[in-house]
Amino acid sequence: MKTIFSGIQPSGVITLGNYIGAIKQFVELQHEYDCYFCVVDQHAITVPQDRLELRKNIRTLAALYIAAGLDHDKATLFIQSEVPAHAQAGWMLQCIAYIGELERMTQFKDKSSGKDAVSAGLLTYPPLMAADILLYGANLVPVGEDQKQHLELTRDLAERFNNRFNDIFTIPEVRIPKIGARVMSLQEPTKKMSKSDENQRSFITLLDEPKQIEKKIKSAVTDSEGIVKFDRENKPGVSNLLSIYSILGNKTVEELEVKYEGKGYGEFKTDLAEVVVNALTPIQDRFKNLVESKELDDILDAGAEKAAFKANKMLKKMETAMGLGRKKR
Ligand code: TYM
Repeated sequence: MKTIFSGIQPSGVITLGNYIGAIKQFVELQHEYDCYFCVVDQHAITVPQDRLELRKNIRTLAALYIAAGLDHDKATLFIQSEVPAHAQAGWMLQCIAYIGELERMTQFKDKSSGKDAVSAGLLTYPPLMAADILLYGANLVPVGEDQKQHLELTRDLAERFNNRFNDIFTIPEVRIPKIGARVMSLQEPTKKMSKSDENQRSFITLLDEPKQIEKKIKSAVTDSEGIVKFDRENKPGVSNLLSIYSILGNKTVEELEVKYEGKGYGEFKTDLAEVVVNALTPIQDRFKNLVESKELDDILDAGAEKAAFKANKMLKKMETAMGLGRKKR
């Protein structure tokens, strides 16, 4: 059975973008692959976090993984900082990564631009992400479009390590969904929807109340044309709403264009809000029962143990390949 690894940062309550771009794929893939899904809390501290908020977000994300349909009998669910091999392997991969290639990462450029104080961790984050993936020998990494460049670097680092030391790493492939790889901001539809956006109306979280969802969709930026038609270039706002509707409402974009022909954006948005609420309500109901439960702790304890078992084997191979420590007598 082939292996999958993916992760999400607990840097806020996850958005519809994370759900459509990542979790929905995870849920489908868990039946066919040996899956490892991680709450990557060490990635979240590359920018300042409030200690109590971070703790809350870690638990929330873990509960949302399960509430959204991940089954701990099929997939290993765990928290990154509870498996120390990630940080250890991340350090080794940092030592073969070049500063120049890290500085070229668009996410680093975006997150550091205009800031006086940028943490070293923000720059060295991609080798830690590579460690996450390579420790499990992942064949496939399901992510949204924005992570593609990090995946290319992961492949480069794996090849460099294999050539320089020993051929131990599987070279992972990226898997990006055909629709929904880049869910856009509701307020600035040329920017991706992000949980760290300062404008709260630009994103929908998985825990938003129905009233909030309606409000955010009603105030989503569209255009003055009044025609429900997919055209990313000229109608980015409407096209984004159509993609969300298509994925969560299980209808093709063409079917939706026909359904709303001759109707304005008002009716389209009202129906879309209903589709989103209907998709999120069952997730929210399951979440409420899980988030403070002992069951969640048990699942995460077992997940960390299983993940560590696999990760430590690869870590030992890396140490041997690089010549760290002493040879076992
Ligand atoms: P993060 O936490 O920013 O996002 C988690 C996942 O959600 C996807 N995503 C989106 N997809 C569609 N539309 C959007 N607007 C949108 N926003 C986010 C992301 O592409 C991602 O798949 N570096 C990663 C976390 C990570 C990771 C890993 C991923 C750490 N180690 C190993 C895969 C494998 C990140 O910051 O994702």
